Parts: sequence; structure tokens; C-alpha cells
Amino acid sequence: MSDSKRVLLIVAGSIAAYKSLELIRFLGARGIAVRCVLTKSGAEFVTPLSLAALSNDKVYTHLFSLTDESEMGHIQLSRSADLVVVAPATADILAKMRAGIADDLATTALLATDKPVMVAPAMNVRMWEHKATQDNIRVLTERGIMMIGPDEGPMACNEFGMGRMAEPAYIAEAIEDFFGAHQRLKGKRALVTSGPTYEAIDPVRYIANHSSGKQGHAVARALAAAGAETILVSGPTQLPNPAGVTVRNVKSADEMLAACQAEQSLDIVVCAAAVADWKIKNASTQKMKKNGKGLPDLELAENPDILATLSRANKRAPLIIGFAAETEKVVEQAIEKRKAKGCDWIVANDVSPGTGTFGGDANTVHVIDGAGVENWPRLDKDEVARRLTLRIADHFKKAEV
Ligand code: C5P
Repeated sequence: MSDSKRVLLIVAGSIAAYKSLELIRFLGARGIAVRCVLTKSGAEFVTPLSLAALSNDKVYTHLFSLTDESEMGHIQLSRSADLVVVAPATADILAKMRAGIADDLATTALLATDKPVMVAPAMNVRMWEHKATQDNIRVLTERGIMMIGPDEGPMACNEFGMGRMAEPAYIAEAIEDFFGAHQRLKGKRALVTSGPTYEAIDPVRYIANHSSGKQGHAVARALAAAGAETILVSGPTQLPNPAGVTVRNVKSADEMLAACQAEQSLDIVVCAAAVADWKIKNASTQKMKKNGKGLPDLELAENPDILATLSRANKRAPLIIGFAAETEKVVEQAIEKRKAKGCDWIVANDVSPGTGTFGGDANTVHVIDGAGVENWPRLDKDEVARRLTLRIADHFKKAEV
């Protein structure tokens, strides 16, 4: 890592602030310079002296301090880094970020910055699950703010659940990845399917499903960010094309399969599309009319199973991953599905009504491979994609050894 990379680390008031000290050490060891802003409540948990000692720099605390401002004005401070990281990010600072409130040095720097921002939320599980916080997270994510974590686990307040700040080593990795240090999948070619398929009934009507494509697009984005040459074959979605990804837009399952089969020499295939199981066998080439003679006689035919077809192909990619959206017996059914389709891993998720997975921004998944089942906590879909990408990179690294 070149030592020209600089992080402005904003430490807000959470018990997790002690982990920021370790984060500074990890970043320092990777040649990333850190300058700290400590909020008033953050200073209740860690001292400016510890941050200064570890970051080897002055720690900025006050918006209207003459010394702070004369050394470095808050606008300059907010732009002096390549990346702004808020860790820990409390419910309070996230709410202020969403609203654009700037009532101290940290929030003013966040409002004034023109640099990318990454946040590592840390709070009690109830605060994390509160609709206000979830709403704030959604809006901030839509604005392009990167979320790292949180994790699930025991909390300082003796409760258990989501809201623990991600581990410092993991945040440091995400920061390094952001700076493009790893390019763990450089030289690999990846294909991702995403979104729903539209199966034509006639030129104006179709059968479809509610898939938003968020998870598939996030996987494509994460693979590309890790350096893989990535092709995204997508059914119709409302999403922007992910940066650095070649996108092939398709409508039907047949088109999706053809677009996938056109790609050669693939190392990784991730089938995240919600492909319609059936198409209309006798789709009309003209718009069908209500002619008073009863209901149309629509005949269904089975669609090709893209995941199974690619998994069974002669020159198959060495790593093929499917998704399995289930509403009951999620893991059991996914284990069976992995065998039935012949893919290597299955990422299973619960899409029962109430989980908010379908179309939502979060996902709780179980990763199933030949060795067993890994249960991941409820995560932002981008975070699921990032962790899956890390797991893919690890898989190839182990295979090379
Ligand atoms: O059978 P089911 O639809 O539950 O399987 C889900 C997995 O199979 C997903 O990875 C999905 O992308 C893939 N699939 C496919 N082609 C189909 C149906 C599902 O690639 N026709």
C-alpha cells in the first residue's frame, strides 16, 4: 500500500470507541495515515492523548477552537484525507448525517467533505433495529455511503443482537480494499446473474416477480471492486449499472441463459437472478383481446434452469454459486438444492413476509458448501456481497496453495 493514502477517522461516543485505537494501529501497519476527529461524547470513552499517540498526529476536537481552526480549518480538515471513516458510528451521528446537521466538528466535517465516506455502526440492538435508524441507514446507503457491519453478538449492555461494531481488522481490510490494495480477484473472470426475468404473454403483458436485483448487483460490484473482470447478465431492474462491470441486459430466462452461455473462460459464476420457473408456451405475437369468448388459454412451459445448466456444462467454471430464496426449512432445502443443481455453494436466505429481504436492503444468509453451513448475521446486501467476495478470494487462494 502506498503511504500516500490518508484516512480522516471520526470517533463518536460508543463503548466501541476503544476498538478505534486498534483500527488506527492496523491502518498504520498498512502504511495508511490516520488523522482523528474525536466527538465530545467520544472523549468520554477514549482520550485525545491515546488517539494522538497512535495516529502520530494532532487530534481535532472543537469546531470553534482557535488553535484547531488556525492549524487546519474544518473545511480543509474534511478534505485533507482520501477517505472519511466514522468508527464507531453511533445512531446519533448517523441521524445527523442523514439530516445534514452540523453542530460540532465531526458533523461539520461530514457535511463539508467531498470525499467518500465509510461508516462502521455501533449501537444497542434496539437502537439498530429502530425504524428511524434503519431509515437513516437506507438513505445514507442510497447516497453512496459505505456501511461496514455491524456484527451480531453480545453487547456491552448485556443484550444480544445486531449492533456490535465490526472488528477493527475487518474494517481495516475494507479500507484497504477501498484503496484497491488487494485486488484479490485480479486475473479472474466472473459472471453474475441478477434481477427478475420477464416472460412474455403477448407483446404488452408478461409474468414476472418482485426481485429488485439489489443482491446480484451488489455481488457484481464487489467482485469488480476486488479486481475480477465482471459480466453482469441482468433482467429488468430499476438499478444503475454497477461501476466497472460489463452489463448485458436481458428480459426472459431463455435470453439470460443464452447471454450466460456466450461467456467463455469463466472462473466464477454467481446466479443471483430470480429466474421465472415458467414461461408461456403459446405466447401471442399480437396483443391478446378480450373477445367475450371466455378466458385466454395460457399454456405454461418450463424455463431452462440456468444455474443447473451452467453447473453441468462440460467446460464449467471452477466455482459456481447459487442463491436459494426460501420461506421455510431454509437450510435443509438449500442443502438439497445444492445437490440437485450441481453447483458448489448455495447462499440461502429467508424471504418470508416480514423479513423484508425481498426488495429490502438487508439480507440474512446461510452459506452452504460441501463442508457444511455458515450462518451469517443480518447484513446490508453490499456487506453480504463483500463477505462473499472475500470468501471467493480465500477459496482461490487455498486452491493455489
Ligand atoms: O430453484 P430455485 O429457483 O429456488 O433456485 C434458485 C437458484 O437457481 C438461484 O441461484 C437462481 O439464480 C437459479 N435459477 C436459475 N434458473 C432458473 C431457476 C433458478 O439459474 N430457471
